[in-house]
Amino acid sequence: MNSSVVERVSVDWAEFDPWRIRPVRHRLMEHPLLQLDALTELGKRQEAKGRVRTHSSGAGPGTPFNVAPRLHPHRMSAADTLRGIRDAKAWMSLLNVQSDPLYRTLVDEVLDGLKPGIDSLDPGMCYRGGWIFITSPNTVTPFHFDKEHNFILQVSGRKTLHVWDHRDTVAASERARDRFHAYHQRDLLSWDESLRERAQMFHLEPGAGAYMPSTSPHMVETGDEPSVTISFTYYTRATRRRSLLHRAHERMRERGIELAPVGTNAMLDACLHAGYRTLDDTREWVRRRVGKPARSDGAAYAITGAL
Ligand SMILES: [Fe+2]
Repeated sequence: MNSSVVERVSVDWAEFDPWRIRPVRHRLMEHPLLQLDALTELGKRQEAKGRVRTHSSGAGPGTPFNVAPRLHPHRMSAADTLRGIRDAKAWMSLLNVQSDPLYRTLVDEVLDGLKPGIDSLDPGMCYRGGWIFITSPNTVTPFHFDKEHNFILQVSGRKTLHVWDHRDTVAASERARDRFHAYHQRDLLSWDESLRERAQMFHLEPGAGAYMPSTSPHMVETGDEPSVTISFTYYTRATRRRSLLHRAHERMRERGIELAPVGTNAMLDACLHAGYRTLDDTREWVRRRVGKPARSDGAAYAITGAL
């Protein structure tokens, strides 16, 4: 295999396609910032800033992702949960860890290492983010998708990652994708056990990982041991363009106009993109003029608070 070793993560760039799911390897297992005592300290800092998402082990594959914390509440503090993760019956995510000065160094270290390879195929890396998942045995990350491209890396414990192609309209309809990009709502995604047979499955152990393109639906099941997983995420010029097109399609649908799916009519996509890009740029310009914080998806790092 023609594999080029890039810092902490190994990717076969000869085979890499930014819109295809694929396995990767990494060497972050011994990283001092990913050991449980360091994560417990990070958990305290993130909790103080409202950047912890948690639910109990009661959540299943079909639990609506956006409201899982409300439907299956887990009430222990981050520090107590992480110290006792083996018995906590909890799923916990430390969100936007790039906002923590110490962990931003890790996000940059990994994404700087990947950037030359990614840039040659998928330029414009921005909106960098880091997300750390610490989970009790036998917990589930409900079926959902996200906007970012994602390198998901297993640090300790074992997980089964189920991922569906970003174009699989059985797993997620075109309308579900449009609505998600327009409103960050995932309510048109629905789980069915029969979807398992359409998924690509990765049995993740320490050192293993996967690359998932933007809006690839996924669902994760943790094994019999506690688990630590980290995701490094980003947007590119192509993901931002695609997101804007899905938003535009949803707006047109609200006006009663049903368009051919994003990516099927190049001329239409080009016109819509030009129009909506100008609108977005104008809105952003006005926000800056009146002193409001930028909301651009072209920021260097993910803007905290935007889950
Ligand atoms: Fe996700």
